[in-house]
Amino acid sequence: MATVPMDFGSENTSPVHPAYVKAVVEANAGYATNFEAEPWTERALESLKGLFETDQLWAFTVSTGTAANAIAIGAMVPPYGSVLCHWDAHTMTDECGAPEMFSAGARQIALPGEHGRLSREALATYLREARIGVVHAIQPSIISLTNLTEAGTAYRPDDIAGLTEVARKSGLGVHMDGARFANAAAHVGATPAELSWKAGVEVLTLGTTKNGSFGAETIVAFTPKYNTSLAFLRKRSGHFAPKSRFLAAQVQAYVDDGLWLVNAKHANRAALRMAEGLSSIAGVSLVHPTEGNEVFASMPPSMSDALETAGCKFQRDWRLHPRHNRFVTSWATADEEIDCMLDVCARAAQPAS
Ligand SMILES: Cc1ncc(COP(=O)(O)O)c(C=O)c1O
Repeated sequence: MATVPMDFGSENTSPVHPAYVKAVVEANAGYATNFEAEPWTERALESLKGLFETDQLWAFTVSTGTAANAIAIGAMVPPYGSVLCHWDAHTMTDECGAPEMFSAGARQIALPGEHGRLSREALATYLREARIGVVHAIQPSIISLTNLTEAGTAYRPDDIAGLTEVARKSGLGVHMDGARFANAAAHVGATPAELSWKAGVEVLTLGTTKNGSFGAETIVAFTPKYNTSLAFLRKRSGHFAPKSRFLAAQVQAYVDDGLWLVNAKHANRAALRMAEGLSSIAGVSLVHPTEGNEVFASMPPSMSDALETAGCKFQRDWRLHPRHNRFVTSWATADEEIDCMLDVCARAAQPAS
């Protein structure tokens, strides 16, 4: 067993960043009104408006990314509607049908695209043949983009604008799953505004958990048109936090002093270090470009075995075509963990003498 942790299973296995803990401890002073009628929620809202450079912003905190996506989609899509997304979208593969449940039966439609990015051509083709307005057919209602994508790649503002243009021509809304929004922004070098409402996103589920907080996701709406549904669905699903100040304090910490960007840059740098190291090891190939804090690597099973034996945590056989592993870095990842993991892989690559 190695002496350093080598934990690349998920950002969720990392400790909470001290700045988020500090924010919660500071908020834990005396009584405060419940259900968002306290100053922390107001301050978090102002911070988000500053970060996204707009007053046209409404925020709904919840405790998990699945809840944020499902409530957002439920508010945007009628039961007879559909969500057009990449086949690998977290909403499709990892949310146990929550978007379908919260929308009272809408369907998710899986579309293709290279390296996790929804293809504009595939979207346009689907919409041409979707029989919009025909009562017999399910009605496309929104597109849902994930940034970072599930393949660890980033959409740029132009990519998003191109997709939203196609969607809007057919009257569709635009949702973005931003569980790793900060990592995408850090890679692309665009502002949060450029990566969201300026490119046509109407509702963003903004993740702070993967940035180091502990359970403060925010549905950020850039239009008031879904607000009633968002507010009632959040309450009805049990996600309107009575002790709201502790969620709001974390959202404010995410924005303040650029913590979101500092943590995302750290995690991205760690992933790049890993990706560069793995690329030089015989028998390893990267399945997707590394544009954020995730590395997807195909390697011989004996190398995966060696990593497990050394105590390394990662998602083995993440996807099977081609078979590959997923490694995730976070604000907490240390260079020594990466170097130790690379050392195990390099040794496993050497032919036995
Ligand atoms: C792309 C994406 N969206 C949303 C989520 C949120 O999931 P959770 O409900 O685990 O917070 C995740 C977490 O893995 C994710 O990777």
